Amino acid sequence: MGDVFLNGNFLPADQAKVSVFDRGFLLGDGIYEVLPVYAGHCFQLQGHLVRLQASLDGVRMENPLSNVEWQAMIEELIERNGDGDQSLYLQVTRGVAPRDHVFPQGVTPTVFAMSNPLPPIPEKYKKQGIAAITLPDIRWQNCNIKAITLLPNSLLKQQALDAGAQEALLIRDGYLTEGAASNAYVVVDGTIYTSPKDEKVLPGITRDVVISLAAKAGIRLLEEAVTVEQLKNADEVWMSSSTKEVLPVTTLDGESVGAGSPGPVWQKIDALYQLYKEDSAAWQ
Ligand code: PDD
Repeated sequence: MGDVFLNGNFLPADQAKVSVFDRGFLLGDGIYEVLPVYAGHCFQLQGHLVRLQASLDGVRMENPLSNVEWQAMIEELIERNGDGDQSLYLQVTRGVAPRDHVFPQGVTPTVFAMSNPLPPIPEKYKKQGIAAITLPDIRWQNCNIKAITLLPNSLLKQQALDAGAQEALLIRDGYLTEGAASNAYVVVDGTIYTSPKDEKVLPGITRDVVISLAAKAGIRLLEEAVTVEQLKNADEVWMSSSTKEVLPVTTLDGESVGAGSPGPVWQKIDALYQLYKEDSAAWQ
């Protein structure tokens, strides 16, 4: 196990200790980020720091570090964990205080970060696609905040795994929102649809990349939610996240999606995504 960062110090993971009175532990009162690191470099760092700030604003917490401090800490953590491909996790909780629903005054937030090896994406997921099931979106009404309270997401993801699928695609009021741990896309007649940025979905950083790649490639993309009906009749369905990139969903609720294999629009976006990862513009 490598070093982690806790409240200003780097230390071996097994020596990092947090109080049982931490509001993250007692109340789930905190927010987080997950960033992909390729060959020792953070992909889309600025985008993740902007979203971190938005999540902190959403839960009325001060940002404990400046962006320069975040970046320096992140770079040291990556180096201490051996460079290479990593999945970097940042968490900020409201801090340690006697248990009370009301925000404590004058408390220092708990800042934790770790970085683990990023498992390579299984080749078969890209060759054959993955399976997903649809489930009711049982989450709260502020899904745009990347809150650490992931019990609904965890229950949904486990339900998908128990059904032999890799992801749950969530339905709210008859519309597809996103995945349990990913954004979702549907392709109909060559147009890509993805839910708009509102409180029903997390504004994914990978989603931002997909949108700009589609624009550059001249592929029509609409930020519009699709109905279950449209989802079930789609030519292609995809999901995206920082750790899974963009993956085709070829089986949905046990039925083939489109032709049952990764579709041409996904092939194009994935090829562009791989090229973009090589591009220096991505490393900001
Ligand atoms: N989750 N929607 C949800 C609910 C997510 O949990 C995630 C990512 C995304 C995709 O966001 P991004 O492209 O910025 O990773 C969308 C991370 C990977 C996690 O919780 O581990």
